[in-house]
Amino acid sequence: MANSKYEYVKVDYEVNDEVMFPNLIVVRIHFCNFTTFSQVHEFEQPNDEKALNLMNACAIAVLKEYPDIVFSYGFGDEYSFVFSKETNFYQRRASKILSLIVSFFTSNFVTNWKYCFPQKELKSLPLFQSRIICCATIEVLQAYLAWRQRECHTRNQHNTCLWNLVKSGKTELEAQEILKGTLKQDKNELLFQQFKINYKLINKMFRQGSCVLKTENEATVKYINDTPVKRLRKNVIVDHSENIASRKFWNEHSCLVKEIGSFTVEINNIKPEFVKSFTFENKLMPSTWIVVRIDGCHFHRFSEIHEFEKPNDEQALNLMNSCAVAVLKELNDIVFSYGVSDEYSFVLKEDSQLYQRRASYIVSAIVSLFSAVYVMQWIHFFPNKELKYTPCFDGRAVCYPSYKILQDYLAWRQVDCHVNNQYNTCFWELVKSGRTKREAQKYLKGTQTNEKYDLLAQQFHIDYNRLPIMFRRGSSVFREQDKDTAITNEGVGGETQSRVVIKHCNIIDCSFWEANPSILNNMSL
Ligand code: GTP
Ligand code: MG
Repeated sequence: MANSKYEYVKVDYEVNDEVMFPNLIVVRIHFCNFTTFSQVHEFEQPNDEKALNLMNACAIAVLKEYPDIVFSYGFGDEYSFVFSKETNFYQRRASKILSLIVSFFTSNFVTNWKYCFPQKELKSLPLFQSRIICCATIEVLQAYLAWRQRECHTRNQHNTCLWNLVKSGKTELEAQEILKGTLKQDKNELLFQQFKINYKLINKMFRQGSCVLKTENEATVKYINDTPVKRLRKNVIVDHSENIASRKFWNEHSCLVKEIGSFTVEINNIKPEFVKSFTFENKLMPSTWIVVRIDGCHFHRFSEIHEFEKPNDEQALNLMNSCAVAVLKELNDIVFSYGVSDEYSFVLKEDSQLYQRRASYIVSAIVSLFSAVYVMQWIHFFPNKELKYTPCFDGRAVCYPSYKILQDYLAWRQVDCHVNNQYNTCFWELVKSGRTKREAQKYLKGTQTNEKYDLLAQQFHIDYNRLPIMFRRGSSVFREQDKDTAITNEGVGGETQSRVVIKHCNIIDCSFWEANPSILNNMSL
């Protein structure tokens, strides 16, 4: 299809974020605002076994879905996924990888909730964030795993003491004061003396975390003349090992050694410069418009399996819009969003400080929220269709340095919507009229816009301009000032309220932006 004059917004501004060889790729996801979520859902403190089992179930799903992920380790509200050293997963593009994993994990969290908590309704949106950790060598990976497991030990011991003190009548503040400056040994003593708890006997999953990993074993697949034919089979197992960074644990799993490498030394001290690299995070350029574009992963297949109407399924598009509304309601810094087909673009205000402008946190939060709502609201939009498998979305963030370029970005997406929709409408009409897909493709090759209008009008009696506006223009979701409250509050210095609306405007045309200056707030026209 022809390139539009707006294509430069992709070519010139999207950056390469490939994780170069020989870095090992680790994706860590964590729950955002877990404290509030666990209070709302009345999780047991300091550890809720069911919640941990749910996290493990999601990790198992991730390992089963993505063959390139060989090992994972999780505790509390986080999970780290380690890719094989030779992986070329999505050309090793950081944003693509971290967003897909967080999206798939979140979708699974929502889907599996009812199995882990059959008596509890999922009352609020789970929101995970993710980031990539690059490990230059296997020793760095080993240090990373040791660091996370040490964190698990420290946090769990602290929390076990804290919650026992609280249960015994102390306030949280008092309990924290008691624990201030205490060492590991002191905490073990406190648990034993005051609460008769032998820390070492506490559930291994709480103390040591969980790893989900791939193992290989020989299995008999068939018999030929009574001789068994054996093949290597990969399994996914869950383990709660005491020291995942030890040579003993690691090297005894042939799959880990083969796909990632063996551990040759023991880690005693974790180098602070390694920890610094694990916590370092790139920030997006200040005073630029951040656009996060998310896109459904393999939605061609997803729409086939769920029998979406062709070329546009109104309910599927309504569901996408509803997800965008939820994202805007959750994240105030998003001032505008535009969606078409299986994609949505979210524009953050120019001076946004959301997550300190950390690209991975912004992208993953949006993708995670969107995925959670997609799964949760599916039933409302498709009451008679089962969600057959968990959908996922990838995302990327791009910075646009001026309002004009931002406008060109949005125009680019809307031109694309028009071009694709017109093509698809013709294509499916030709197919419905008896042509094969190949013939339809050949027929349309090289045709111009006007020719397609004519084709639709003459052969199929369709006036393109009368097709539903959502199909032709896509959907814009933004905050609109509530006229009633604007009037009520006028003159009294009160705050005007806004509500999130879905419209199908022409955003290529400057007049839309001129007529609605408040949408992009502090824009400079
Ligand atoms: P990746 O994004 O590269 O993973 O591939 P994809 O299969 O998602 O394709 P892409 O994002 O390029 O295009 C989206 C695809 O989703 C379309 O080609 C359609 O096949 C499908 N799709 C999106 N919306 C609809 C719809 O309303 N109806 C139908 N039938 N299909 C849709
Ligand atoms: Mg897609």
